[in-house]
Amino acid sequence: MARMNAAVVTSFGEPPRYQPFEVPQPDGADEFIVDVLAVGLHPRVRSGAAGAHYTSSGTLPMIPGIDAVGQRADGTRIYFVAADDVIGTMADQALASARRSIVLPEDADIAKVAAAMNPAMSSWVALRRRVPIKPGQSVLVLGATGNAGAMAVQVARRLGAGRVVGAGRDRGRLDALTSAGADDVVQLTGDGDATARALAAAAAECDIVLDYLWGQPAQHVIMALLTARSDRSREMNWIQIGSVAGPTMELPSVALRSANFRVQGSGQGSVAGQAYLAELPSLVAEITAGTIAVKATTMPLADVEEIWSRAEVPGERTVLVP
Ligand SMILES: NC(=O)c1ccc[n+]([C@@H]2O[C@H](COP(=O)([O-])OP(=O)(O)OC[C@H]3O[C@@H](n4cnc5c(N)ncnc54)[C@H](OP(=O)(O)O)[C@@H]3O)[C@@H](O)[C@H]2O)c1
Repeated sequence: MARMNAAVVTSFGEPPRYQPFEVPQPDGADEFIVDVLAVGLHPRVRSGAAGAHYTSSGTLPMIPGIDAVGQRADGTRIYFVAADDVIGTMADQALASARRSIVLPEDADIAKVAAAMNPAMSSWVALRRRVPIKPGQSVLVLGATGNAGAMAVQVARRLGAGRVVGAGRDRGRLDALTSAGADDVVQLTGDGDATARALAAAAAECDIVLDYLWGQPAQHVIMALLTARSDRSREMNWIQIGSVAGPTMELPSVALRSANFRVQGSGQGSVAGQAYLAELPSLVAEITAGTIAVKATTMPLADVEEIWSRAEVPGERTVLVP
């Protein structure tokens, strides 16, 4: 068996170690091996490596990494998504297939693509496939100060939103969102009632909410938005995308009776793989054109164990390079 170097998780809850591992074998005619060029260290990668993502099978040892930029034997560079949660992309080599990859244009910046596809896809797919946005609609991004949330502000604008409001905790990154396309920003503070009032004033008339938070902040905000809405029979589409503030919340039944309030999620499972694949080329084009701002910090895959325990620099995405 051929060997390669990889980030390997042998115990959930401990960082991966850089160590030799067997090169995975293609399973079926459409799978092939690629040399990995760049892998994003997304929150989704961390939850998978902790065995805590809803798609986790609990199998160990496992190689983390859900997507990557790779190079085929003929030199073609591709963006691809890993087939399962056991043999991921944080390795010298990984398995790809035509059903889970696209060829990158010559001018694509591989670190930016590796950094941005996962966070940018969250809003792009939500606004194209779950609740297709109509020109001029108003969007609230709840949790707009992370990578995905900040990109969501830019994606909503790019896809035709008439008004975009960003809400998040960090004042400095909220201010930066104004130059990135937000019409208004609201700071989420420890005072839940005051925050809910401020959000209602800024976004009660929104058509779509892109929610990266869930938990207490979302719970506080929902009734405040619906109560302040001028016409409650007008659709408000709440798209659940991330849960950085908590996995659960209490939703009063009255929210669903007293308003045309529609809740759905967007992620692996609720959107078909083929639908994701169809959106990838346009997203790469936006990243390459610079319409979606990306800060990628490249680091050696060999240092993965130490990098894993470091706090992320807010607004930047770590990209590991084999
Ligand atoms: N469903 C999908 O398709 C999909 C795709 C990609 C990502 N996601 C999910 O989206 C979420 C964000 O991903 P990301 O890449 O943007 O991560 P990130 O860059 O690490 O950003 C997370 C941000 O969440 C904020 N935050 C953390 N705890 C919070 C709290 N209690 N209340 C309010 N804000 C809080 C922090 O901003 P402040 O410092 O300002 O608080 C932080 O910057 C993750 O849950 C990820 O799994 C989903």
